Amino acid sequence: MGETMGNTAILYATGLTKNTKKIAEYVAGKIGADTFNLKEITMLDLDAYDTIVFGTGIHAGSPYKPVVSFIEKNGSQLANKKIKLFISCMFSDEKGSKQCLDVADRLGISDAVYFCKKGETMNAAGVSTKVDDWIKGF
Ligand SMILES: Cc1cc2nc3c(=O)[nH]c(=O)nc-3n(C[C@H](O)[C@H](O)[C@H](O)COP(=O)(O)O)c2cc1C
Repeated sequence: MGETMGNTAILYATGLTKNTKKIAEYVAGKIGADTFNLKEITMLDLDAYDTIVFGTGIHAGSPYKPVVSFIEKNGSQLANKKIKLFISCMFSDEKGSKQCLDVADRLGISDAVYFCKKGETMNAAGVSTKVDDWIKGF
């Protein structure tokens, strides 16, 4: 972790409940990454980062628009970087896994996980403990 990841940016889009933002900031705190809310940023120097982690909530089976359009617009700059995706959603089990695969496929990201609050234990930061397991694999 840290050394192997190089410079990491977490680019996320979040809704009213801010679940995705909470996860993004928690992960950033653990690995020393920079976070950017894609609904708010105007400037971002992608060259400064080796690893980009995208985070999004899900509405009606789809990732949030700012994430979709950022990836569409910056595809060539993302091509030589390590890219990861996390999804914050309400579906778990088979439904959650299928949704995660569908969304990852749509965004063209193979390294994807989902976090679902339902049935998962929360740590002190109110974040799913599965997030801790995910970070360990970075
Ligand atoms: C209108 C609406 C539609 C949703 N649709 C889905 C869905 O299709 N699949 C899913 O797993 N979660 C769905 N959710 C749950 C959110 O994706 C989940 O609560 C997520 O953590 C929200 O992240 P945010 O707080 O960053 O926006 C939906 C939530 C809302 C409010």
